[in-house]
Amino acid sequence: MKLLLLGSGGREHALAWKLAQSPSVTKLYAAPGNPGIATEAELIALNPSDKDAVAAFCRDQAIDLVVVGPEQPLVDGIADNLRAQGIPVFGPSAAAAQLEGSKSFTKLLCARHNIPTARFRRASNAAEAEAELDLFDLPVVIKADGLAAGKGVIIAETATDAEEAVAHIFGGGFGAAGASAVIEEFMQGEEVSFFALTDGKTVVPFGSAQDHKRVGDGDVGPNTGGMGAYSPASIFTPELEARVMGEIVGPTVAAMANEGTPFSGILYAGLMLTDEGPKLVEYNVRFGDPECQVLMARLESDLAELMLACATGRLAEAQPPRFSDKAALTVVMAAEGYPGTPARGGAIEIPPTDEALVFHAGTALVEGALVASGGRVLAVTATGADVAEAQARAYAAVDAIHFPSGFYRRDIGWREIARGRG
Ligand code: AMP
Ligand code: GLY
Repeated sequence: MKLLLLGSGGREHALAWKLAQSPSVTKLYAAPGNPGIATEAELIALNPSDKDAVAAFCRDQAIDLVVVGPEQPLVDGIADNLRAQGIPVFGPSAAAAQLEGSKSFTKLLCARHNIPTARFRRASNAAEAEAELDLFDLPVVIKADGLAAGKGVIIAETATDAEEAVAHIFGGGFGAAGASAVIEEFMQGEEVSFFALTDGKTVVPFGSAQDHKRVGDGDVGPNTGGMGAYSPASIFTPELEARVMGEIVGPTVAAMANEGTPFSGILYAGLMLTDEGPKLVEYNVRFGDPECQVLMARLESDLAELMLACATGRLAEAQPPRFSDKAALTVVMAAEGYPGTPARGGAIEIPPTDEALVFHAGTALVEGALVASGGRVLAVTATGADVAEAQARAYAAVDAIHFPSGFYRRDIGWREIARGRG
């Protein structure tokens, strides 16, 4: 089959690497891709947000499956447009992508179906939000309702911080994403990412991971898109997985179908493991980045076949996904300045290695030389018998990379090592 992969980050490089291994894939295109993805796929200069141009390319090239990496085109309806033209897509409709695109959509769905999540209130203006703040203890979590590039969540420790957050959201600080807000109870616990594949009816587990969101060693400094991850998360036991499938993910997929907005693709559940059990923090409607890199490093099944089964409503007939028992760990190398304004153009030299997979996240070729072109630049990914071994291999590869204008965390995987499970 002929595939088109949309996106240009480390997540998409990992997907391209895995898709290119599929015996059923005869041709892999990626748009717009990056220099790392170019080693796996033919790059096409298409904007993933240009629905008509994407559909025209798919018709011209007789594409059998489109795989959508990032959330924005999904929220904007790219899957609807392709499906209307009979082109199979791995990824949800705009209506189903509201699970990520609208925090209140998800919270209201949870409330209707008794899905465990933080207690919440919705506010459509600053006065309402301020009145509702009184209903919560501190710290309190205040979120812009819409997509805000991962920045729309504020954890307010004091009443003043909470009032400032409300003023920021309703003052246009997050643009249209802040037209309404959700105020939530702060949940205590350890966070874990859990993934499930679904065609809208059948839903199967697709692995767990833990991300490292803060920029600095020891989990300090501002939030980022993720500075490193590992899989599996040993804290997410088979018992917990069964409970989350039964109480959170399964009921969500069933509710979406019953309410006329079936969800297909990958459902990424951000979970908080609280004293009262696992609770939903948020859903994403795409793979995590860099969680995807560690999932792909462990996946043994044919990814293209699984994605096609999701896209065509035939997941029940597919072999369940199989993952290696090995641990995988990825270290993100970022450009100096990230998550603020990253330094662009820094030179990168990557010596060949059999120890690790070096996924490109934000690179470009300038006159034949590889340079940094984004905040997160590389995701250096290794496997091992346990997290400690995967960590040692990943850092050996990181240390061999020459990227003087970059930086990275030195402690990815610390939780597993501290648990003695490394
Ligand atoms: P979100 O974009 O909803 O995932 O929020 C970003 C991060 O904020 C999450 O990964 C959590 O670390 C934190 N967070 C969000 N909601 C809550 C909550 N209700 N309680 C505690 N932490 C939260
Ligand atoms: N690494 C977090 C995310 O992809 O949302």
